[in-house]
Amino acid sequence: MINFTFRCPAIIHFGPDAALKVGSEASRLGAKSLLIVTDPFLASSGLLEPIKKSLTEAGLAFSIYSEVNTEPTTTHVAECLSQLKTKKPDLLLAVGGGSPIDVAKAVSFMATNPGSLQDYMGIDKVGQEPLPLIAIPTTAGTGSEATATTIITDLEKDVKMLIISPRIMPKVALVDPLLTLGMPKGLTAATGLDALTHAIEAYVSRKATLLTDILALSAIKLLSVNLPVAFQEPQNKEARTKTLLGALKAGLAFSNASVALVHGMARPVGALFHVPHGISNAALLAKVMEFSLSGDYARYADIARAMGLADLGDEPKTAQAGADKVAQIIKDMAVPSLTALGVTKEKLDPVVQKMAEDAIASGSPANNPKIATKEEIVALYYACL
Ligand SMILES: [Fe+2]
Repeated sequence: MINFTFRCPAIIHFGPDAALKVGSEASRLGAKSLLIVTDPFLASSGLLEPIKKSLTEAGLAFSIYSEVNTEPTTTHVAECLSQLKTKKPDLLLAVGGGSPIDVAKAVSFMATNPGSLQDYMGIDKVGQEPLPLIAIPTTAGTGSEATATTIITDLEKDVKMLIISPRIMPKVALVDPLLTLGMPKGLTAATGLDALTHAIEAYVSRKATLLTDILALSAIKLLSVNLPVAFQEPQNKEARTKTLLGALKAGLAFSNASVALVHGMARPVGALFHVPHGISNAALLAKVMEFSLSGDYARYADIARAMGLADLGDEPKTAQAGADKVAQIIKDMAVPSLTALGVTKEKLDPVVQKMAEDAIASGSPANNPKIATKEEIVALYYACL
């Protein structure tokens, strides 16, 4: 199918000091007053200072909500909305990993739309134009700065609510590799492997397009080479820059091609066991890839070649070599296992059927090249412990 639709932020500034354009970009969008959404670590780290200086120099007022201390939840959104009602900003600025950006996306449309957050679960339910949003990622992973997706955990139901709408795409993304230099090893691994999962799933997705293919394969190439280097050498600017570029490309790809079985299965793990998103994906990726290869050997062989592996002259063998390489990258980054994070067989037993149902209900598994039955998903969960 040649036809496709592609959505992305109106402007992406990429490169060292891109974040310093925040004052001029906010002014260009007509803002006078901003609400910065961030996490407590960033708020106290000094990392925000150049961003605040840029806003002040542009004559803009701002307040800060810095309580996004975990994966994004309904509580964060409610607290942020209440601050918004007092301060009445005309623009939201998210600074952080995927969590503050996802909270800001939810707040941006809840500020201008009626009802509760739960009403907007699913695709294209946001009717009114949200407050404009500028996103500045400080991790190289979620790609949330360039996606029309937000995922908020409903704390009452222990469900990750997936909300997709072109209206919640950030207006501007300022993607600055200098902000990722200080990331600790564990965070580099978790976020980087999330990005690699985005790229792989976007490429094999049944919703892949000619444009997302280019971005996804390029992201796989960038991430497979540079993420292990960034992990080993946290101050390596070139590796950090190329990893962030890979994460951005992967974000643009999956925002338009969707993710697949790994993400569908990862969300219930995160919602029920509070395992960080990137770790859930990393724990599932290799086994789910192995399961999915036979659904599209040709595409998985492309992934192997993008990672620099030799073409073995046989698509299933080349595809398998690619899956082995991904498993090795994950192993080398010493990501904790699900069991180490408390997801034991005993804890999985009573909830695994519901997890498989929730995974299927999210819709993502339907994009997988090989469609998994509920029983197969249950078996995969156990295999990934
Ligand atoms: Fe993800």
